[in-house]
Amino acid sequence: MLFKKSMLLSILLMVALLFVSSFSAMAQNGEVEIFSWWTGGGEEEGLNALIELFNENYPNVEVINATVAGGAGSNAKAVLKTRMVGGNPPDSFQVHGGAELVNTYVETGLMEPITGLLEEWGVKDKFNQQILEMSSYEGEYYSVPVNVHRSNIMFYNKAVLEENNVEPPTDLASFKEALAKLDEAGVVPLSLGDTNKWPATQIFESLLVSTLGPDGYNGLWNGNTAADDPAVREALVHFNDIMQYVNEDHSALTWQDATQIMHEGEAGFNIMGDWAEGYMKTLGWTPGEEFGWMPVPESEGTFIVITDTFGLPKGAPNPENAKKWLKTIASVEGQDTFNPIKGSIPARLDADKSKYDPYLTSAMEDFAEDTLSPSIAHGSAAPEGFITALNDTINEFITTGDVDAAFENFQKNHEEYVQ
Ligand code: GAL
Repeated sequence: MLFKKSMLLSILLMVALLFVSSFSAMAQNGEVEIFSWWTGGGEEEGLNALIELFNENYPNVEVINATVAGGAGSNAKAVLKTRMVGGNPPDSFQVHGGAELVNTYVETGLMEPITGLLEEWGVKDKFNQQILEMSSYEGEYYSVPVNVHRSNIMFYNKAVLEENNVEPPTDLASFKEALAKLDEAGVVPLSLGDTNKWPATQIFESLLVSTLGPDGYNGLWNGNTAADDPAVREALVHFNDIMQYVNEDHSALTWQDATQIMHEGEAGFNIMGDWAEGYMKTLGWTPGEEFGWMPVPESEGTFIVITDTFGLPKGAPNPENAKKWLKTIASVEGQDTFNPIKGSIPARLDADKSKYDPYLTSAMEDFAEDTLSPSIAHGSAAPEGFITALNDTINEFITTGDVDAAFENFQKNHEEYVQ
C-alpha cells in the first residue's frame, strides 16, 4: 500500500513536471519565420536591426531569419513561390507592393487580408496612401509597407569626378560627355553588375521615364501609352549609348560588386536603387562627403518607387507571431529603426525625420513633391512574365546593340503580358 502510494505520488510528480516543462517550452519556443533576400551588403544590417527591435518587444518569440541570397530576389522569389504553392508558407515574407504581391499571391487566394489589423493598430491612415494602395485588392489590404526605395537614382564618387574635372551632369547629353571624359582618363565611367539581369533593366526603366515623362511612363501600365511610342525607342538608343561606358566584366558581377568598384575609386558613376546608399554607409562612407547623388538625368520630378512589404500568408504556421512582426514593422519605431540603415525612406508619413541622413532627407523631399511611378524591374508595374521577358530583351540588346529588334521585342512582350 505504502509502495503504491509513493508510486502514485512520483507518477503525479512526473506528470506535473512534464506539464510545467512543456508549458514553459511553449512560452519560449514560439517562433516566427521571416523570409527575405536581405543577406548582405547593407541589407542584412537593416533586417537585423528590425529583428533586434522585435526581440526587445517579444523576447519569447524566436525569429527564424530565412534568407535566400540574390539581389532583388533573383533566387528568393522562385523558392518562395514553390513554398507558397506547395502549402509550406513562411509566417511572413518580403514582397513588393503592386503586381508582384497582387497577381502572384493575392489573386491566387494565398494571402489573408489584414485591413482589420491596420485599423485595430490605428495605422491605416498613417501611411502614404499611394504606397499603401499598392498592397490593396478589391477593397482589402494584404501587406504592410516597411519602406520606400527609389530606382531612378545615380550615385557618384566625388573624388573621381573632381580629379577628372567632371561636373555632375544636368541632362543626358552632358551625362554622355561626362562618361566619355572618364573613359578617356582610363576610369570605369559607369559601374554595372548585371549578372542577375535586373540591374540593367533598372537603368532602362529610368531612361523610359527620361524620354516618356512620368505620365507617359505610367501610361504604359494603365493603357494610355502605346508600346510603340517613339519615346520607347529613344530610351533604347540612350541605353545603348550609355552601355558603351560600363565595365567589361559587368555580366559577371552583382549590384554590390558594382557599388564596390565605385567605392574603391575605380568608377565615377553607379546607377542603382538607393539600397546602394545603405551599402555605401556600411562600407564606411558618409553621404555627401565621399559620394553624391542625383536622379538619372532627365528623370527628375519622377520618383520610381519600390516598396518592400510583408503580409500574412494563409496557413502560416504561427499567425499570431506573424501579426506581431507586422505590428512591429508598421510602427514608427520599426520604420525608423530599419530605414535609416537600409537606405530607404519610411512608408509612414509621421516618421522622425531627424533620424535620416542628408541623402534620405533629400529623398523624402523628392518623394513628397514628385510624380510617383512604379518600378518594372522590382515587380510593381507589370506582371512577372513581362519582367522576365524584358530582362531577356535587355540582356540580349546589350550584346547585339540592335535597337529595332529590342523595340519590337518590347512591343511584343507588352502585348502579351500587359495589355
Ligand atoms: C529590391 C528590394 C530592395 C533591395 C534590392 C536589392 O528588389 O526592394 O529592398 O533588397 O532589391 O536586393
